[in-house]
Amino acid sequence: ERLPPGDPAKRAFAYMVLTGGRFVYASLLRLLILNKDVLALASLEVDLSSIEPGSTVTVKWRGKPVFIRRRTEDDIQLANSVDLTSLRDPQVDSDRVKNPEWLVVVGVCTHLGCIPLPNAGDFGGWFCPCHGSHYDISGRIRKGPAPFKLEVPQYTFLDENKLLIG
Ligand code: FES
Repeated sequence: ERLPPGDPAKRAFAYMVLTGGRFVYASLLRLLILNKDVLALASLEVDLSSIEPGSTVTVKWRGKPVFIRRRTEDDIQLANSVDLTSLRDPQVDSDRVKNPEWLVVVGVCTHLGCIPLPNAGDFGGWFCPCHGSHYDISGRIRKGPAPFKLEVPQYTFLDENKLLIG
């Protein structure tokens, strides 16, 4: 860049401003790139088209497993036939799903953080092998030491076959 001729003090000042400006620019650029990476990590797009009814897939979102279960009619009926007063951490199934066919929950046991096994346990949902917690087909705790139901993350359906988690 061009520095003003003459007075060395002025030249030094102009140099500082110019290099300082470059530093600020580089920092801003770094920040923008970081933000883009953070945003990319913050949400995850999942293609649902290959998930068979009755099966569960596990994806990784923000370092945690997330279970996506494509529920059958029987699963949905089962989830809705539960007496809520019998639940340790009750919630009606319709408040846990945006579309009853799809259950989306964070795959971390609310006891001590193990990853429960899908399509297992006494209630058709998940079984945590660490200390024996059973979750139902809505991800609600039914038996064992876990205190809470599986967490539902933020998500939206982008279209019939695309889910955006986060
Ligand atoms: Fe799942 Fe203990 S961590 S039952």
